[in-house]
Amino acid sequence: MPEPMIRLDRVSKYFPGQQTPAVGELSLEVAEGEVVVLVGPSGCGKTTTLKMINRLVEATSGTIEVAGSDITSVEAPVLRQGIGYVIQRIGLFPHRTIAANIATVPGLLGWEKERTAQRVDELIDLVGLELEMKERYPSELSGGQQQRVGVARALAADPPVLLMDEPFGAVDPIVRGRLQEELLDLQRLVNKTIVFVTHDIDEAIRLGDRVAILNVGGVLEQYASPSEILTRPANRFVEEFLGEDRSLKRLSLTPIDAVKLARGPIVAPGAGRGEVEGVMKEHGVDWVGIGADEGLSGWVWGRDVTGRAGDADPKPFSVRLTPDQSLRDALDSVVSSHTGVAVVFDGDAYLGMLSIEQISRHLIE
Ligand SMILES: Nc1ncnc2c1ncn2[C@@H]1O[C@H](COP(=O)(O)OP(=O)(O)OP(=O)(O)O)[C@@H](O)[C@H]1O
Ligand SMILES: [Mg+2]
Repeated sequence: MPEPMIRLDRVSKYFPGQQTPAVGELSLEVAEGEVVVLVGPSGCGKTTTLKMINRLVEATSGTIEVAGSDITSVEAPVLRQGIGYVIQRIGLFPHRTIAANIATVPGLLGWEKERTAQRVDELIDLVGLELEMKERYPSELSGGQQQRVGVARALAADPPVLLMDEPFGAVDPIVRGRLQEELLDLQRLVNKTIVFVTHDIDEAIRLGDRVAILNVGGVLEQYASPSEILTRPANRFVEEFLGEDRSLKRLSLTPIDAVKLARGPIVAPGAGRGEVEGVMKEHGVDWVGIGADEGLSGWVWGRDVTGRAGDADPKPFSVRLTPDQSLRDALDSVVSSHTGVAVVFDGDAYLGMLSIEQISRHLIE
């Protein structure tokens, strides 16, 4: 095992006057290049934990190491140069332009004007903003755009570690989904060690290589990969936190191409009534798909076939899935289609179909 990038060893925080700790004896390791998501109810100590890592809050006891060194052995400002921080509720400086906001840390580090300007342009592009936004002020951007600026600002000096405190908390679910997708794309490019805080379990499952589920008082209830947590929740608290739709969440983690697809009840356009009935009986359905070789042109009700199957005016499958979509998408398609199956294509090539039985079998395995 290589050294972890971040190591918390029995870290506690008692704020002045508190009898119970905000964070109690928390031990946690984060590997280099890993995305770890801290998730838990409000007040469970997520922000406090992040702030102890960059020493905005000093731990009461325990040790924290970043890149192998005890964080108290370096000056806090020096430590923070290596740790990008996206603050809860964005926290852009309202009276500074977008460019000036992004250039905050390079400014503190005394970078030359030219180098800073170049870096700002690079980051604006990296997080999917337009260059013309540079001279605007935060209030002149949408919520999602402001969140992107927050991420760009944290990345400015290219720190190996990134702490993100509910960075997508203030936007609607659609924008949030897009920002999550972008973060995953971005991470493939920059490969940072990221500690990401959220109270949204779906966000945690989507983004985390590992997820740490915290309870009030900063108590670690489970620390494992999303699929491990969904398959084997450690206790009642985790189970309840995951919610009733735990199985659906598991389906959303599995891509369609991880399961074997069936060819399904398909006949050639020239098939006659007898063959159609045989295929329907074999599959226990009242419809057939019409296709040959790699194609699948549509489907017909068996009762509508009088002559050749292809003459019965095949209807197109309304939803065509691709192999990179999830079993959750497949289930949506199954329950909303007349045929009760999800059909999967790679471009024009028909790959196969999934029934509800195949999908639920995957959950049992
Ligand atoms: N500066 C402070 N002084 C005293 N108590 C504090 C301070 N900061 C946080 N706390 C307390 O510590 C506990 C943990 O707070 P923290 O902000 O870490 O929670 P959180 O998990 O980030 O919550 P949220 O999801 O609402 O952001 C809370 O009970 C909070 O009231
Ligand atoms: Mg918080």
